[in-house]
Amino acid sequence: MEATTSLLDATAVGDLVLLDPLTEESLLHTLQERFRRSDIYTYIGNVVISVNPYQSLPIYTPEKVQEYRNCNFFAVNPHIYAIADDAYRSLRDRDRDQCILITGESGAGKTEASKLVMSYVAAVCSKGEEVDKVKEQLLQSNPVLEAFGNAKTVRNDNSSRFGKYMDVEFDFKGEPLGGVISNYLLEKSRIVRHVKGERNFHIFYQLLAGGSAQLLQQLKLRQDCRHYGYLNRESSGLPGVDDAANFRTMQDAMRVIGFSPAEVTALLEVTAVVLKLGNVQLSSSYQASGMEACSIAEPQELQEICELIGLDPGTLEQALCSRTVKARDETVLTTLSVPQGYYGRDALAKNIYSRLFDWLVNRINTSIQVKPGQQRKVMGVLDIYGFEIFQDNGFEQFIINYCNEKLQQIFILMTLKEEQEEYVREGIQWTPVEFFDNSIICNLIENSKGGILAMLDEECLRPGVVNEDTFLTKLNQLFAAHKHYESKETQNARRVMDASLLPQCFRIHHYAGKVTYNVTGFIEKNNDLLFRDLSQAMWAARHELLRSLFPEGDPQKVSLKLPPTAGFQFKASVATLMKNLYSKNPNYIRCIKPNETKTAMLFTPELVLGQIRYLGLMENVRVRRAGYAFRQLYGPFLERYKMLSPRTWPRWAGSDREGVEVLLAELAFPPEELAFGYTKIFIRSPRTLFDLERRRQERVAQLATLIQKMFRGWRCRTQYQLMRKSQIIISAWFRGHVQKNKYKQMKRSALIIQAYTRGWKVRRAYRRYFRSEASARLANFIYRRLVQKFLVGLGRNLPPLLVTDRTWPPAPYKFLADANQELRSIFYRWKCKKYREQLTPQRRALLQAKLCASELFKDKKTLYSKSLQQPFQGEYLGLTQNPKYQKLHAVAKDKLVMADTVRKVNRASGKAVPRLLLLTTEHLVLADPKAAQPKTVLSLGDIRSVSVTRFSDGFLALHLKETSTGGAKGDFLLISDHLIELVTRLHQTFMDTTAQALPLHIADQFSTRFQKGDVAVTVVESAKAGSDVPVCKKRGSHKMEVLVH
Ligand SMILES: Nc1ncnc2c1ncn2[C@@H]1O[C@H](COP(=O)(O)OP(=O)(O)OP(=O)(O)O)[C@@H](O)[C@H]1O
Ligand SMILES: [Mg+2]
Repeated sequence: MEATTSLLDATAVGDLVLLDPLTEESLLHTLQERFRRSDIYTYIGNVVISVNPYQSLPIYTPEKVQEYRNCNFFAVNPHIYAIADDAYRSLRDRDRDQCILITGESGAGKTEASKLVMSYVAAVCSKGEEVDKVKEQLLQSNPVLEAFGNAKTVRNDNSSRFGKYMDVEFDFKGEPLGGVISNYLLEKSRIVRHVKGERNFHIFYQLLAGGSAQLLQQLKLRQDCRHYGYLNRESSGLPGVDDAANFRTMQDAMRVIGFSPAEVTALLEVTAVVLKLGNVQLSSSYQASGMEACSIAEPQELQEICELIGLDPGTLEQALCSRTVKARDETVLTTLSVPQGYYGRDALAKNIYSRLFDWLVNRINTSIQVKPGQQRKVMGVLDIYGFEIFQDNGFEQFIINYCNEKLQQIFILMTLKEEQEEYVREGIQWTPVEFFDNSIICNLIENSKGGILAMLDEECLRPGVVNEDTFLTKLNQLFAAHKHYESKETQNARRVMDASLLPQCFRIHHYAGKVTYNVTGFIEKNNDLLFRDLSQAMWAARHELLRSLFPEGDPQKVSLKLPPTAGFQFKASVATLMKNLYSKNPNYIRCIKPNETKTAMLFTPELVLGQIRYLGLMENVRVRRAGYAFRQLYGPFLERYKMLSPRTWPRWAGSDREGVEVLLAELAFPPEELAFGYTKIFIRSPRTLFDLERRRQERVAQLATLIQKMFRGWRCRTQYQLMRKSQIIISAWFRGHVQKNKYKQMKRSALIIQAYTRGWKVRRAYRRYFRSEASARLANFIYRRLVQKFLVGLGRNLPPLLVTDRTWPPAPYKFLADANQELRSIFYRWKCKKYREQLTPQRRALLQAKLCASELFKDKKTLYSKSLQQPFQGEYLGLTQNPKYQKLHAVAKDKLVMADTVRKVNRASGKAVPRLLLLTTEHLVLADPKAAQPKTVLSLGDIRSVSVTRFSDGFLALHLKETSTGGAKGDFLLISDHLIELVTRLHQTFMDTTAQALPLHIADQFSTRFQKGDVAVTVVESAKAGSDVPVCKKRGSHKMEVLVH
């Protein structure tokens, strides 16, 4: 509501189309009044006029973004966000590529406006990890480009010294995919010279103020700006600008965009080289021939530059102080004079910097570019340097103003001329509005046959003496009668007295005012030549980035063709830009600068009036007022709005035009609001269009609801039918199942009843033939017969008598199951008893030993399972047969239990030696195998316990009581091939002799007692040991390891 009143407020209308009366004064007054109220934005239809407030206003908050999101352009207060929103929606919903043209003079707020548009679009388009990354990269390109391409001028503390056009690309959903930046003509002369009170490009000051001590040292720079010739040796801080903080912001931005640390370093190195070049001083000396020649005055700076770029200082010195000239087939090295030397040095610095800037833009493009193949919509934002009129205007101003002239031409063509021509074309009643068409000025400059730029190129290429005078003379001849061209000569011819126009100047009457250009330097700047020696020197540097900036320096690629001139290149890129802009739907933001002093909220009417005039705002309002705000071909219009009438929805059978007529007649708009052209419908006021759009939105919402309703209904119906079908199947199966069960139950019952009935009938019928207890006796008889048959059958078919065979026939009747089980166990026990009875005493003893072994070792020692197959032989030595063992035989007498060879582990070294072992019912004897003499005789009572390992080895520790006589040297460690048998027999014999169980430890660690003290034995699994044979290793005096496999 408030917004609408603001639009219609008589003293300060928001849309100048509504201004009444329409005069320059009322227009100026309106802008001033609105500016006073801090309403810096005003419309002319859908063109936004922005007056720079030079102070931050609270109108760019996130809440404001929300307010303007999907807003009705004319229903809210004029704002740059409204035009951004309109453009974005038109791009997303109507699939029309957009461009946003921001024009105005230097300091009018173009760059700020472009950033506001970008940030608005970034805020309203959807979010997501990938999308946010793209948005960040696009937004962060600004601080980087501003650092390298902006500078303080007298008009603007952050003046863009290059033109920028950025295409932001979106996918079909309106999500940003990436972009492309084009840059136009960097003002490179600023590198070597700037007016007092201005500054060089920001980056130099930022680098010196914000670079860490280490970085500056690495770049061989000093922090003090006054040290550098190109920075004019003056103090450089700007009020309200923190160069150091901006440097950090720029570095962060580079990181976000995707610059690698190496790239950033390379970039800063080249920047440092440019700065240092300004300090290379030349001095003059006289050669033997008497000619003046220049040389490097102080080699330190040159030396440092060469260290930075990896170049031999001699090469650079030669390139700076001399020049190779090709005369016929000879090459001659001529020395340069001091001014020539300085000229070359400055040209080099300018070239390095401007090429570095191009590289920077390309590098950013590489990061933000969209993968090929994706369908995209484009929004271009053009922020180009504004129209400039200085005291002394040179080639740069000429080029910049030419570009502005072209932009004005686009504006005129698209909004004024084309619009009026279209009304005529479409046969709409129309009274033409007068406006100034600037094609004549554009033509004066760019005409490829006789334009100023063409003349300049011709002059540059002409052989012979070339200077600006001949160029100016040519212009004077050509444009003597041109309305927009003036010079001293043409003035003289017309007898005009004008002291302000100097002889070496010409003046052009631009759309935005008269500008006097001084031709001095035109030819040199247009040629933009760099001595080949310098580019070759740069190419010879080892610094990858710098080298890549000078491809023409490659001696292999020497070309004699002159490179295109600066003017020619600029004209070509402006032509491409214009073509690009023409293909898009334009949106205009016209920036106005309210005062010359950058003062907050100060409005200088004279200054603004000048801009109102040259921006053609009056004509713009007039055409708008007389014209129609909106037009569209009948087909797409009908397609978009046909849902608003039941007659055209969903299909219209007639022609598109008839359809539109029917549709609009039904909507009952006032007739003066509409005009029907031959192919297009015209709608006069935006209000009507917005009304149409609003109705469409409501209708679309209704239709969407209808579609939702139908779809939901269909989905529910289908689901219901599916559920119903399933339910019927389930109930059918369930009922069937219930009935089947019931039937089975009934059948069983019927059979039982039948059986009983039949039995009852039979019993009744036969009762008279039998006595009353006959059935019991019969049953008893049958039962006994069955038992008898079972037992007899069993007797005949007894299973084999083998104890290992546990088979038994099953019971033939259930009632015999228990008895059968009982019989089976009786039979088995009986079988075992029989088996035991027929055993010989030896076999019995052997089995007892096996049983004992099982109790001792089963599931405790791995070796046990291997021993199962081996019979316990006891006597492995053949004591009786071998006469050698006679003495031992005598020792054993008749009491021998076991005789075997074992290995005894040496307590000190762990080495094993063979021994004969005899176990008798009373002793354990260890004998020397060669002599067959007993070495140790242990009474069984001396043995305390035995330890073995868990593994499949034959290791055994025989722990002796401390009091034992035989074991004075301590416990025995033995290795036996029949360990299980040996321990079992020892255990049994021990039990028989002492009536006590012999303690057996099966463990991985145990302690043994040797003569020299206790030794901890640890069992270690190791591949070094043999499969059964353990290896003992003594570790120190109190540790022994038994390696087992
Ligand atoms: N909407 C705004 N709100 C507050 N301050 C603004 C606004 N627009 C511009 N300014 C101020 O004006 C200064 C100049 O604006 P800007 O750099 O956008 O001008 P420009 O038109 O791009 O000039 P040039 O052609 O020299 O690049 C800004 O640094 C800022 O201080
Ligand atoms: Mg700018």
